[in-house]
Amino acid sequence: MASIVLKDLSKTFGKVVAVDQVNLTIQDGEFFALLGPSGCGKTTTLRMIAGLETPTSGTIFIGDQDMTNCNPRERDVAMVFQDYALYPHMTIEENVGYPLKVRRINQAERKQRVTDVSNNLGIGSLLERRPGQISGGQQQRAAVARAVVHHAQVFLFDEPLSNLDAKLRFESRGFLKHLQKELQITTVYVTHDQAEAMALADRIAIIDHGKVAQVGSPQEVYLRPQTVFVASFLGNPPMNLLPCKLDLAKRQVQINGSQIDVSQVSQINGIKTLVSEGENLSLGIRPEHISLYAEETAQAFPAELYVTQPLGSEVLVTLQVAETTVSVRLFTDEPPELPRRVWLKPDPKRILLYRTDGNLVA
Ligand SMILES: Nc1ncnc2c1ncn2[C@@H]1O[C@H](COP(=O)(O)OP(=O)(O)OP(=O)(O)O)[C@@H](O)[C@H]1O
Ligand SMILES: [Mg+2]
Repeated sequence: MASIVLKDLSKTFGKVVAVDQVNLTIQDGEFFALLGPSGCGKTTTLRMIAGLETPTSGTIFIGDQDMTNCNPRERDVAMVFQDYALYPHMTIEENVGYPLKVRRINQAERKQRVTDVSNNLGIGSLLERRPGQISGGQQQRAAVARAVVHHAQVFLFDEPLSNLDAKLRFESRGFLKHLQKELQITTVYVTHDQAEAMALADRIAIIDHGKVAQVGSPQEVYLRPQTVFVASFLGNPPMNLLPCKLDLAKRQVQINGSQIDVSQVSQINGIKTLVSEGENLSLGIRPEHISLYAEETAQAFPAELYVTQPLGSEVLVTLQVAETTVSVRLFTDEPPELPRRVWLKPDPKRILLYRTDGNLVA
């Protein structure tokens, strides 16, 4: 087991800055997610931790050791690659058991451990086959099995469940989280799926164009995103961001002709960022933190109904507020009859305000 420290880590490919001055400390035993859109530098970061890519600058510590220039074998990390990278000429059993074989674990124990982990991942009946004879999702689980069969000091996962259907994904991620909690092996998990990062990780780093946008627990980054990028990347549908004008003296903002009180916004009282009278801001509010009324209501702004989508235990309502599309989540299993024009009241305690440069007013 070991902590991982990335210090001023950068990687450029020609003119492309894939990873840009990343500083992160991943605690011993932590389940840490790197989350961000395609091309933001997640795989490159993971490959540098594994020793498969040399940093352009910066340092990587694993445990107390500077590993920046060590080869992959010296690092004792197990990695699941985005493209699985199974050995095509070996059976699944040989693939999964390979890390044990190179460590000279005897055959009986090898068989036992390969069988256990493969059963847990639902590929126990495929052990005789070769990678070319199983589906993509099965190959992916075989790659996960191979990574976790040996208890390395660090697990590195690169989108290890991306190719599975919803049910298998849910089951496999439950297995991974359970296993990680049992073994307490420091884990870095790369994904572009915000729900997966939220469900699995102790902490999440959200990456934007090679830079760390925010680090925190799932609750912290979900409830208090520091930038509109983070706010709109987390949540499905993401946070609503409504253009508004600030009335600083009255502690109000104006949205679609209505005045909305923001005096309960914790930021507004101890503001450190400069905001000025009449400044244009964005009001951030999650779809589950808005109440919907059929009639005009205090502290609410008008909206035009666009569509309702019943999802079983909840109903997702999409509306238009001037030029902005807004989502509201209603916790009801009965699709409501709504008029065309409705009123939306954001929970005053959940309101966040962002400046036009994208930063939280704080
Ligand atoms: N070997 C390489 N040569 C040139 N550019 C590269 C190389 N590897 C990655 N890049 C570029 O670096 C950037 C980051 O790539 P990376 O694979 O780390 O992204 P990612 O976050 O893993 O994306 P995805 O979610 O699509 O897997 C991208 O712009 C990519 O095109
Ligand atoms: Mg990638």
